[in-house]
Amino acid sequence: MKYAHIVGWGSYRPDKILTNSDLARMVDTSDEWIFTRTGIRERRIASERETTATLAFEAAARALVVADIHPSQVDLIIVATSTPEYIFPSTACLVQDYLGATRAGAFDLSAACSGFVYGLSLAAQSIQSGAVHNAVVIGAETMSRVLDWEDRGTCILFGDGAGAVVLKGSSVPGGVMASTLRSDGSGGDMLSLPAVYHNPMPMLGPEYLHNGHKKNTVEMNGRQVFRFATQVVADSVEETVLKAGLTMDDVALIVPHQANVRIIETAAKRLRVPVERFYMNVDSMGNTSAASIPIALCDAVGDGRLRPDDNVVFVGFGGGLTWAASVVKWDVTPPQVSFIDHEWKRVRYVMARGRSRLRRLSRRVEAAVARSSNGHEGDDE
Ligand code: UT7
Repeated sequence: MKYAHIVGWGSYRPDKILTNSDLARMVDTSDEWIFTRTGIRERRIASERETTATLAFEAAARALVVADIHPSQVDLIIVATSTPEYIFPSTACLVQDYLGATRAGAFDLSAACSGFVYGLSLAAQSIQSGAVHNAVVIGAETMSRVLDWEDRGTCILFGDGAGAVVLKGSSVPGGVMASTLRSDGSGGDMLSLPAVYHNPMPMLGPEYLHNGHKKNTVEMNGRQVFRFATQVVADSVEETVLKAGLTMDDVALIVPHQANVRIIETAAKRLRVPVERFYMNVDSMGNTSAASIPIALCDAVGDGRLRPDDNVVFVGFGGGLTWAASVVKWDVTPPQVSFIDHEWKRVRYVMARGRSRLRRLSRRVEAAVARSSNGHEGDDE
């Protein structure tokens, strides 16, 4: 029997901070409204040079250092994101290249804000089946690039960032113990981000494009999503904890999707657990969609909120509609990594990028040689 343990974690947040007061100068809102309705004070915004893939890479590289695993030992990379730069190549393939993870399969996963928990569950099952040994699961977003900055109902909520975990196979019981994945496409119009210009979702109707909607930006019915979220957080946590053979009293910490403090408070009431058992960093990060749970996990570890043998629950919800929960036994003490060791490990990524550039160059040279020899063959005819 194989178990999938979390052995590494890492997050990355862009330097640029956008405060509620900054937003109040852009749209008709206020720090007071945003904070009392959401719990958000500020969020991070990616610089022009940063992309979803570079944020994801930074988080994954940090997680691999904690795990003390070389990128060539990684078998699988999953990036949960709603903001890929390309449909293909996937963000996961870009990360694979930046890491120099030469033996890894890589793909993106689209389940909006539930994506990280979906990815964790799939990676854990791949490990438990024996198909892979080491996997990296990343949630990464540049939400700032898909927001309508004139829509105060959405632009105040979201931010950019990335978080990652490394999962490793072991015969020691523990790790990811149970997961629940759910969806309800009939609620797709409650929260959407169109990707293809001429193909709006049929359920939105033809009026959609004529009502002044910005086509490639997030659309949301906040009140409906709020109601949906408070129901599914409580239900899926309860169901998954039961599946893991535990009770709510056995759960040390719940790391929920960071969308709104009021959603978390309502879910805590429904579950009849003290709200302090929920980890929250929404005040400083806003809603980073698929990245919010792994970033919050890293902050919780940094704040000393997880001790060996604690049971932790991750719970996500969002567009699709999708929702998901996982119960994990937190049973790893990370190795102490010295500064020199850390810096040396970063050098290998510079070398991986160099090797990748060489491979790209050699492909171009091969193509040029093939073209010129084809031309000569044509001359002979
Ligand atoms: O990642 C997954 C997904 N998303 C979520 O989880 C979001 C879930 N929903 C929410 O968090 C909340 O619904 C919001 C924070 C988005 C909105 O809070 P609310 O308490 O549900 O406000 P509301 O939409 O019911 O609007 C109340 C009032 C409205 O004015 P009127 O009609 O009462 O005059 C809005 O126009 O607040 C107004 N309003 C704002 N006022 C100032 C809406 N947005 C703003 C704003 N600043 N940014």
